[in-house]
Amino acid sequence: MPIARVQDLVKRYGDQVALDHVDLEIAEGEILGLLGPNGAGKTTLIHCLTGVIGHDSGHIEVFGQDQRQNLNEIKRKLGLVTQEVTVFEDLTARENLQFFGGIYGLRGGELNARIQETLELVGLSEHDKKLPGTYSGGMKRRLNIACALVHGPRFLIMDEPTVGIDPQSRYNILENARTLNRQGTTILYATHYMEEAQSIASRVVIMDRAQVIAQGTVEELIKSVQSEERTRLEVANPSDAIIERLQALDGVTAVAREGNRFIVTSGVGANNLDNILNVAREEGGLLSVTSEQPTLEDVFLSLTGRTLRDAAEG
Ligand SMILES: Nc1ncnc2c1ncn2[C@@H]1O[C@H](COP(=O)(O)OP(=O)(O)OP(=O)(O)O)[C@@H](O)[C@H]1O
Ligand SMILES: [Mg+2]
Repeated sequence: MPIARVQDLVKRYGDQVALDHVDLEIAEGEILGLLGPNGAGKTTLIHCLTGVIGHDSGHIEVFGQDQRQNLNEIKRKLGLVTQEVTVFEDLTARENLQFFGGIYGLRGGELNARIQETLELVGLSEHDKKLPGTYSGGMKRRLNIACALVHGPRFLIMDEPTVGIDPQSRYNILENARTLNRQGTTILYATHYMEEAQSIASRVVIMDRAQVIAQGTVEELIKSVQSEERTRLEVANPSDAIIERLQALDGVTAVAREGNRFIVTSGVGANNLDNILNVAREEGGLLSVTSEQPTLEDVFLSLTGRTLRDAAEG
């Protein structure tokens, strides 16, 4: 039985459809990566799943229970790390944890033991008497995560927890997620960094424009696009003429641009590398060429014709 199941979920904000018939299952014990560009609907999905907001239609089950009917019971076993850091600025780290643990009914020795354990996990036990205002962004984020963990949730949902923080805190957060998962916590991890999804998730669901457009293990998703060849070019003088000439080449199925880099996708056995390089040399002053192993970025590109970054901007 999955730990959570979302069926045919629709959520609108006024006229805008933010979740367009979304289906999703999260298996007990996995780290599911929820990958999608800005505005894809990740946070909306998480807010619906956790009952922070209601949905227009569809069905949500968590821990095998109907979410609408058993929300309070479900919430007790859930941990939610929201996209924006939410901690009390006028309470010390320890007091914040006392507050959040108290909400979940923890008291006395049990609460203190959980606080100690959680502070150690996120690497803040030496800083427990300080106010969050004295913390770096990364430390504040780690406190925020500790607040979502203090009651020992069976299912932890993290919404882009590493955005805008220092590399050390980022590393710490990813390691914490892996540790918790090894100890049995199921994790839903939303991100728009495909490297993160690829490195942490056992399975990935890709969202774009309010829909789930693909799901599977990283390996499965990558295999699904492996029949295509991808060449990355970096040129000195990027122009639209390069795109036009590349698109006109035999075998080329798509050309995407990112600044002065072009990603050229060709069909199976196109055998057109010479032609691609000639265009790049003639039109743009070729600086470098790579032909990489496909990544989740390629999966997204192949499904949408856009890169994750383009999708976020558009
Ligand atoms: N409260 C709201 N009212 C109106 N529109 C909203 C609201 N919240 C989100 N949206 C819109 O719904 C769409 C999905 O937003 P959502 O925040 O779920 O995306 P996201 O994948 O979490 O993006 P990000 O990576 O930027 O956090 C966006 O177009 C957004 O502008
Ligand atoms: Mg979001």
